[in-house]
Amino acid sequence: MSTSAFGAYGGRYVPETLIPALDELERGWRDALADDTFHAELHALLTSYAGRPTPLTLSERFAPGKRIYLKREDLLHTGAHKLNNALGQVVLAQRLGKRRIVAETGAGQHGVATATVCAKFGLECVVYMGEEDMRRQRPNVERMGLLGAEVRPVDFGTKTLKEATSEAIRDWITNVETTHYLIGSCVGPAPYPELVRDLQAVIGRETRAQILEAAGRLPDAVVACVGGGSNAIGMFSGFLADEGVRIVGVEAAGAASLGTGRPGVLHGSRSSVLADEDGQIADAHSISAGLAHPRGGPPAAPPRPPTPGTGAASSISPRPTPRRSPPSGG
Ligand SMILES: Cc1ncc(COP(=O)(O)O)c(C=O)c1O
Repeated sequence: MSTSAFGAYGGRYVPETLIPALDELERGWRDALADDTFHAELHALLTSYAGRPTPLTLSERFAPGKRIYLKREDLLHTGAHKLNNALGQVVLAQRLGKRRIVAETGAGQHGVATATVCAKFGLECVVYMGEEDMRRQRPNVERMGLLGAEVRPVDFGTKTLKEATSEAIRDWITNVETTHYLIGSCVGPAPYPELVRDLQAVIGRETRAQILEAAGRLPDAVVACVGGGSNAIGMFSGFLADEGVRIVGVEAAGAASLGTGRPGVLHGSRSSVLADEDGQIADAHSISAGLAHPRGGPPAAPPRPPTPGTGAASSISPRPTPRRSPPSGG
């Protein structure tokens, strides 16, 4: 079993009790990838349920004279790319015989996507969410409730995504026999980052074909926001082999873990994190609940960690992903 698909990053920094579950998940994922029925089921769900392919829209008035295209993942069912990952993981969870799902959410988009797939497949669903995020993302809390999910408030620390993720992991440790942890981004112990990347890669594949069709050429650059890194790595993975395409990840200034972070361990894997010199995780802040994460996931981490103290001060990470060779292992 590979436990680190991303060089010095990734890995499994978890209690011993979770290792068998992670092994089972990794085996299940490899089996699914080799199984045509899995691909057929997921493809059917993505097209006839989720609404893929999503459009690529030329943004005509935003920057006159420039050609900026938007990949409209907001038009996917439930309103964000999170559904690509939730659908794939729920099909996998069923293959593993898990009937209870736990998840963390920040903006509530991943929580809504998870609640939606659980409602579709008749699974029990518990979503952990920081109280501060519940306050600022109220409509999504209501949506999760309407979909039959239980939203459990997390009231310690910053009361946002970091603490919600910790609580979801604690629940998973306690109920690992029956429960699948449907993680929402390219974070967590292996094989999660790789699995989420593979499920979000549909964004990049579609975009590449659509831009060639619409513009007759590849773009000069692809740009994506980075919270945990899932939409970014999904988009970027379509262009990693294209030398001439600049790849730009944009982080929230108060949560620029790739641009200004240091190597460290959080939520079960090693990545570039916001931390002090002793490795204590610092609080992340963004007005965008989905971006307030003190780490980017391993696949979105730079090939070499920035030297502590010399990371980019701007919120734009110049090279947020291994450029030319897609990470090994799937
Ligand atoms: C719409 C949207 N975009 C982006 C993100 C950031 O997450 P990621 O970096 O995993 O794509 C979130 C997170 O909640 C989100 O809801």
